[in-house]
Amino acid sequence: MSGMTLSAASLYDRVQRVIPAIEWPVFSDDIDAILKLKRERNAVILAHNYQTPEIFHCVADIVGDSLALARKAMEVEADVIVLAGVHFMAETAKLLNPSKTVLIPDMRAGCSLADSITPQDIRLLRQRYPGVPVVTYVNTSAAVKAESDICCTSGNAKAVVESLGVPRVLMLPDEYLAQNIAKQTDVEIIAWKGHCEVHERFTPEDIREMRAAHPGVTVLAHPECPPEVVAEADFAGSTAAMSDYVGREKPARVVLVTECSMSDNVAVEHPDVEFIRPCNLCPHMKRITLGNIRSALERNEHAVTIDPTVAVRARLAVERMLAV
Ligand code: 13P
Ligand code: SF4
Repeated sequence: MSGMTLSAASLYDRVQRVIPAIEWPVFSDDIDAILKLKRERNAVILAHNYQTPEIFHCVADIVGDSLALARKAMEVEADVIVLAGVHFMAETAKLLNPSKTVLIPDMRAGCSLADSITPQDIRLLRQRYPGVPVVTYVNTSAAVKAESDICCTSGNAKAVVESLGVPRVLMLPDEYLAQNIAKQTDVEIIAWKGHCEVHERFTPEDIREMRAAHPGVTVLAHPECPPEVVAEADFAGSTAAMSDYVGREKPARVVLVTECSMSDNVAVEHPDVEFIRPCNLCPHMKRITLGNIRSALERNEHAVTIDPTVAVRARLAVERMLAV
């Protein structure tokens, strides 16, 4: 999005299907301030698909899934990157842009998957499975990435696993992603016991109830959901893959079995598709607001720093992934 000629007033049309007019005055002042601050500070905002529509559609310059944000972070030419997403995403942007200022508006924007595994866990796993490569989901700390051979996202996990040319890999820390990928490949996958607190709550009964209540609905699920949930869905893929599916197949009715803001953001682009809305909120993603994006730019807070010895090794794991 070009910030040069935009204003909150000109942006409302874009989001009026998902933001009631009565709520708009709450956002417009912050939006205008952020657009101005971005120009003054030569800053760009990277926003994940789970950010609320006033962030995603009104102030973000680059949007996407975890893989797209990592790829596009490499191409950023601005001095400052504000990551509207969670901490591991800001760390990944910093790994790929060590000389730039990378800000996360709320340091508490974490992730249950990132919290489920430590560098020490990986060192112990390596002792237990000598010679087995470690593939780490990007939803991990830089210190965990530093202990890994290569990273993956839900968008490229199968390709990454198969790129290694080995019969067996450790795939950490998301147990369900590992189990879902294991069904698509001959490579044996050893999983960890981490779960996404948003996706683990969906059940197969939820999907059956949605189908009964909304006949003909197309069900798209994120691969962080349990395999029994994915088995009930019509399609499983990363947030970008779900969004692409809606654009390509144009289902009459669809449910996105994932975080709540995803449907709002995709609905803005597809007025002819009916979105059925059962969803779960990610409390970490929701810590990011227009208000704290504005103060991040005003106060230069909170700058992400990574120990240089950790960063060198973690960057290698991310770069290997991006080369696949
Ligand atoms: P993707 O955007 O890569 O599908 O990841 C989803 C997610 O849960 C990010 O935290
Ligand atoms: Fe982590 Fe799940 Fe939230 Fe994504 S949705 S940030 S995986 S807790």
